[in-house]
Amino acid sequence: MKVIGFNASPRKNANTMTLVEAVLKGAADKGAETRLVNLNQLNIKGCQGCEVCKKKPGQCATKDDLSPLLVEMKDCDAIILGTPIYWFHVSAQIKMLIDRFYCYMGHETSPETGEESTFSTFPGGKKFVIVTSQGDAVPEMYQQTLDWLNLVTTIMSASSTEFVTHCGSENDKSSARNNAEMMAKARSIGESLV
Ligand SMILES: Cc1cc2nc3c(=O)[nH]c(=O)nc-3n(C[C@H](O)[C@H](O)[C@H](O)COP(=O)(O)O)c2cc1C
Repeated sequence: MKVIGFNASPRKNANTMTLVEAVLKGAADKGAETRLVNLNQLNIKGCQGCEVCKKKPGQCATKDDLSPLLVEMKDCDAIILGTPIYWFHVSAQIKMLIDRFYCYMGHETSPETGEESTFSTFPGGKKFVIVTSQGDAVPEMYQQTLDWLNLVTTIMSASSTEFVTHCGSENDKSSARNNAEMMAKARSIGESLV
C-alpha cells in the first residue's frame, strides 16, 4: 500500500507538515510505504489552460516537478492534501497542484444527443485525507473551504475523505506538535488508511 502526503505550507516543520507527517507515520506503522512531498521546494507551475489534456485525457502538457507526481498519484492508495489557510482559503502551493488535476478530466459529446459530459481518468476508490491549519480558533470558520476540498476529492472519485482540522495556531509553528489530541487523531487516521 502506497501513501503520498503533500505539504503546501512554505514553512517546513510547521503545523501542516507536522500533521501530514503524523498521518504518514500512522500509515507507515501499519506497513504502508509513505512519501512526503514539500510542494514549496519544487519548481512548479499552475495549470496553463492549454487544454491539450482534453484531447489526451490524463496527460498534462506542462512539464515541471509536478509531472512525475501526477503520474505517481495514480499508483497511490491514499493521498493526503495538507494546506494552511491563507486568506480564508487554501495556499497557492496546493491550488497549483489541484488546478493540475484538470488533466485527469475528459469531456465527451454524445453522438446521439450531442450532449456534453465530463469523465475522470483518475483511478477511483482512493482514500483522501485533508489536513488544514489555521490561525483562527473557530473550527467552522473556513467550512466553505473544507467543503470545496471535499468537492475536489469527490470529483477525484475518492472512496473516503477524512479531515484533520487544526485551529488556533496563532502563528506558532509548534502549535500542532504540542497538541497531543490533534497529533493522536492524525496518527489514528493514518493507521485507518491501511
Ligand atoms: C498569507 C497568510 C494568510 C493567512 N490567512 C489566514 C486566514 O485567512 N485565516 C486564518 O485563520 N489564518 C490565516 N493565516 C494563519 C495561518 O493559517 C496559520 O498560521 C497556520 O497555522 C499556518 O500553517 P503552517 O504552520 O503549517 O505554516 C494566514 C497566514 C498567512 C502567512
